[in-house]
Amino acid sequence: MTYQGLIHRYGQYLDLPAHTQIVSLNEGNTPLIPMPRLSRELGCELFIKFEGLNPTGSFKDRGMTAAISEAVGRGAKTVICASTGNTAASAAAYAARAGLRSIVLIPEGKVAVGKLAGAIAYGAEVIQIQGSFDDALSLVVEITQKTPIALVNSINPYRIEGQKTSSFEICDVLGSAPDWLCLPVGNAGNITSYWAGFKQYQKGLPQILGVQAEGAAPLVLGHPVEKPETVATAIRIGKPARGEQALEAAHESNGRIIAASDAKILEAQHILASEGVWVEPASAAGFAGLVAETAKGTLDAKGKKVVVVCTGHGMKDPSIITESFESPRVIPANYQALVDVVGA
Ligand code: F0G
Repeated sequence: MTYQGLIHRYGQYLDLPAHTQIVSLNEGNTPLIPMPRLSRELGCELFIKFEGLNPTGSFKDRGMTAAISEAVGRGAKTVICASTGNTAASAAAYAARAGLRSIVLIPEGKVAVGKLAGAIAYGAEVIQIQGSFDDALSLVVEITQKTPIALVNSINPYRIEGQKTSSFEICDVLGSAPDWLCLPVGNAGNITSYWAGFKQYQKGLPQILGVQAEGAAPLVLGHPVEKPETVATAIRIGKPARGEQALEAAHESNGRIIAASDAKILEAQHILASEGVWVEPASAAGFAGLVAETAKGTLDAKGKKVVVVCTGHGMKDPSIITESFESPRVIPANYQALVDVVGA
């Protein structure tokens, strides 16, 4: 029997209503990739949980299989979300799979091309908002309170249920929870989900390092950010819906939430790619945080098992790479020209 997705595999641990009708794209079951070279450099046992290998290229598919399965079972015909891009693509894909109408609201001009293309390819009705993700989220909350349209942002509790499964998978592969779990924090659904998942699975608890982008770090600053800005557009969020729960997860786990600069995030993206894992900028924030904390001596990773969650694939945001490099050199199509360049 082929793998049939997360609800099939972990449904017994997920608090989903009886009316749930499974809609799956065989999401989850993503690799936990050992990183031997970076492990040696950092003195720890480092693994990347590569969530970019989900069907739509991000971790959102874990929550979306649950949210859409519930919505279909209750007879919803239309789903809506606000998104910095990945939720939009995921909602669009699962809605398409279920035959539902999907509407996605995105901040104008601030969504990476791979995500927008995905949402359109899967058939979503894409609406750009002259405002931020936070503005878009307020609008979708209002319309779902006043109409039968179903909300599939991570305010929806079934999103959290689905996303817990990544903790289960990590414990199943390692045999127990890691010592540290590092991940990016935007609207704060994912950190909430991981912590709930580890607590429920009872295979030990990691310390959690949540990482926001410096220009969009409300949980570090202790107040909302009106005009969030960061190259990591996925986490360009100033008022996280689950901010309280994120702080609680960090605190209860004896971890913390910190901020990383755009420069450090892009450097982290580059370092991960240099050991074969290309992730989108926001997804490199967890690693950027780990590097910064170990360098400062405020996180002792020595000899510890560390899992860094990389939430989305590098192909989601190709422009960040192509715009920062000169285009590859051009040579005549002859052997000597090739040898001249290669230096053989
Ligand atoms: N990493 C990526 C690649 C994301 O797309 C997001 C959130 C996060 C991290 C942060 O996760 O919000 O649960 O704290 N993206 C949302 C979206 C906001 O609309 O796609 P979070």
